[in-house]
Amino acid sequence: MELISMKSITRFYGKNENRVDALRGIDLSINSGEFIAIIGPSGSGKTTLLNILGCLDSPNSGEYIIDKTDISKLTSKDLANLRNKKFGFIVQNFALLDDYTVYENIKIPLDYSKTKINNKKQEIKEILKKLGIEDKINKFPTELSGGQCQRVSIARALINNPDIILADEPTGALDKEMGQQVINIFKEINKENKTIIIVTHDANIASQCDRVITIEDGSIKSNN
Ligand SMILES: Nc1ncnc2c1ncn2[C@@H]1O[C@H](COP(=O)(O)OP(=O)(O)OP(=O)(O)O)[C@@H](O)[C@H]1O
Ligand SMILES: [Mg+2]
Repeated sequence: MELISMKSITRFYGKNENRVDALRGIDLSINSGEFIAIIGPSGSGKTTLLNILGCLDSPNSGEYIIDKTDISKLTSKDLANLRNKKFGFIVQNFALLDDYTVYENIKIPLDYSKTKINNKKQEIKEILKKLGIEDKINKFPTELSGGQCQRVSIARALINNPDIILADEPTGALDKEMGQQVINIFKEINKENKTIIIVTHDANIASQCDRVITIEDGSIKSNN
């Protein structure tokens, strides 16, 4: 079933002689349950595309439809609700708050969403257990390894039970073994019919995805 449809999406930054065309007409269709890799050179538009996919940013032109909803028709409040409900984000370098414990970091998206989870602590414990770091629940990010921090950021992305996981270089800061462990976690999540879209520089990781989208200079060069 088609979950995401993009037609002729463009995004530029700056204006006049400073204008940078980050996306130059992206056409994309993604089915629910797909596991997709986005690859391409530095500066080719991968993060820009991910931000628009996740409704963190809006295109300058083109059409973006999620689950039959044209997002350009939504108020900013409805868009924020859709973003919180549908998407889990894993950003580069984890973006964990150092003054918050693991538990508090994971709880952040719950505080922003309308979903009321009665026993948040229990829910968070279960996710940490699944990721193999339940003993770290009261630690601070500075007390964890890179791979453990990455798993905390995955737990934070999963806590709202989103349909779509967007991950920007989720293994970029990890060694090969830890990177593969993170991909194995994604494979498990994907089995639960979650749609996963990751940006990666790693050809080995891309080869394990259902589909690889290659972006160059703001355009899709291959998609298969
Ligand atoms: N906020 C911004 N203001 C101005 N230009 C930007 C901004 N964000 C991105 N760009 C430019 O848009 C282009 C695409 O950037 P983007 O971050 O999407 O690339 P990327 O493929 O994610 O690169 P990388 O692999 O290095 O993360 C680049 O030329 C970049 O310099
Ligand atoms: Mg990027």
